[in-house]
Amino acid sequence: QELQMNLEQIEKGGYDHFMLKEIYEQPNVIKDTYRGRLLANEGIIKMAGVEDNIEKFLHAQRILIIACGTSWHAGLVAEYIFEEFTRIPVEVEYASEFRYRNPIIHQDDVVIAISQSGETADTLAAIKLAKEKGAFVFGVCNVVGSSISRETNAGAYTHAGPEIGVASTKAFTTQITVLTMIALRLAKAKGTLSNSDFHRYLQELEVIPEKVQEALETNDKAKEIAEKFKDASNCLYLGRGYNFPVALEGALKLKEISYIHAEGYPAAEMKHGPIALIDEQMPVVVIAPKQGHYDKVVSNIQEIKSRSGKIIAVVTKGDIQVKDLADHIIEIPETSDALSPLITTIPLQLLSYHIAVMRGCNVDQPRNLAKSVTVE
Ligand code: AGP
Repeated sequence: QELQMNLEQIEKGGYDHFMLKEIYEQPNVIKDTYRGRLLANEGIIKMAGVEDNIEKFLHAQRILIIACGTSWHAGLVAEYIFEEFTRIPVEVEYASEFRYRNPIIHQDDVVIAISQSGETADTLAAIKLAKEKGAFVFGVCNVVGSSISRETNAGAYTHAGPEIGVASTKAFTTQITVLTMIALRLAKAKGTLSNSDFHRYLQELEVIPEKVQEALETNDKAKEIAEKFKDASNCLYLGRGYNFPVALEGALKLKEISYIHAEGYPAAEMKHGPIALIDEQMPVVVIAPKQGHYDKVVSNIQEIKSRSGKIIAVVTKGDIQVKDLADHIIEIPETSDALSPLITTIPLQLLSYHIAVMRGCNVDQPRNLAKSVTVE
């Protein structure tokens, strides 16, 4: 028993929980993910699975992304990135819905299946269905040799290393890293991004680990905010554009480990319903970096404030406008809109973590949840 405890302690590398360790691993694992694939100075992205099937990707009339949970959120971020960079239409679907609705799949569709574990039953079944209908299926998995990595026609691993905490953290950011690299590679071949934008994104991706490191320095602030909101019964997360999926992911993290009811929404949808929930009891986490639809998000923040909601805003370092309106701000380093999910998601992971710890929850193994859902 004691030996077991010590082993676990060693595995946690000095952190109280696997989840925290995995959050802190992100600068390094993102580097592992792009190592040998991203050659920023040479302007090259090379990923064997993509190169070997480049024609399929370039002739794709449509990309279908299928996944569950956090991996589905990474797929949503990828939808915005792929459409912006490559102009290929993208649809993102829950694997569990896809497999049961007789989906229309063409021979020239590329299906991308995303899964950390590579064992999710619904995703695996959706892959089999897509293959039966003649689509080319590309996997983005973390676990090497997993069922999904074997079932797909080709793929790219995320190289995040083992993720033990049930709440997915480093898998999410490395999935986004892989998907961004694929989009950039295709954009280069298709000429859908200007040369200067292409090179700028490559350079920027290369320094993302440093920015993630900087974002991790918001830990104390996240803890301080967690102290104030740990007893909340509900929480709203809002974001727009690339950060709308980050709002969904922030809400999922909070509910799965702290059992606080949380919902993510595109900020502009608030006025179509959720605004009715806002009162002085309601914490609202708003993702409001300088790039993107900043002014629009600021007016959403004003709407929350005028209804006395408690505003926790994730902003770019040096922001003044939101600082005046929000109850709490978390400052993150500046990055382009398209790459911002890699940074904005970090303080949200930390916030959920601290709230869950303060509520005495079993952070690494939340009730009713399994690390990989191998049943439908
Ligand atoms: C995320 O924190 C979850 N525990 C869960 O939503 C997970 O992302 C989902 O079950 C998909 O798992 P996979 O990536 O291993 O397929």
